[in-house]
Amino acid sequence: MKQLIAGNWKMNGSLEFNQALLTALAQGLETAPRAEVALCIPAPYWAQFRVLCAQYPALKGVGLGAQDVSAHPGGGAYTGELAAAMLRDFDCRYAIVGHSERRQYHGETDDAVAQKARQALSCGVTPIVCVGETLADREDGRTFEVVKRQLAAVIHANGPCISEAVVAYEPVWAIGTGRTATAEQAQQVHAVLRAQLMAATARADRVRILYGGSMNAANAADLLAQPDVDGGLIGGASLKAADFLSIIGAARR
Ligand code: 13P
Repeated sequence: MKQLIAGNWKMNGSLEFNQALLTALAQGLETAPRAEVALCIPAPYWAQFRVLCAQYPALKGVGLGAQDVSAHPGGGAYTGELAAAMLRDFDCRYAIVGHSERRQYHGETDDAVAQKARQALSCGVTPIVCVGETLADREDGRTFEVVKRQLAAVIHANGPCISEAVVAYEPVWAIGTGRTATAEQAQQVHAVLRAQLMAATARADRVRILYGGSMNAANAADLLAQPDVDGGLIGGASLKAADFLSIIGAARR
């Protein structure tokens, strides 16, 4: 299976900025990329992305992703929420769920994240389930316990369907800080997550486990060479075409 390199634009972008970034990415992706590529773009710009996909065939293979999805089924009084069925309407291939910024600033619990993953899976949208420990957790030696608890909630709510999900290990202390987990630290946690998935599904080998947290053009090759690192979830570096393209180029075949 190809590695997956997914950009998470977070709350960045504008019509003008996106036009320039996507045009540059289209040029860089003209030769078939080594990895599968996805972009989790703020929803108001999905239409712009589709217009540019029609204009630049090289973008057609890029999967569109949402940065969140509602834990509730479509229809209902949930102001501001986007239902998984709405994502499906826009051909969203992916939806990030449980990003640490949502857990931290929006109080998302493990159970809510599990329900979001469930909604996505029920509509044929692949959830990218984020797990990760804080610096305090790591210093207390609780890294494995925390990520296993977060993933266990999603496995519990979804059973063997977890084989259809993507998991992203994003240590909170590495996000936007320039402080990356070493390749060894990432591999250690990914191996623990893989073992947990193996206990839940016979198809754990097909679940891609991404690393996220200050991944950049300089450190990507080392991280992506680890046996249980199946791709990356990239924040800041996905906003710079040259950097994002270098990361895609660093994927292992
Ligand atoms: P940075 O790559 O900016 O550290 O962000 C990582 C992330 O949170 C991706 O979801």
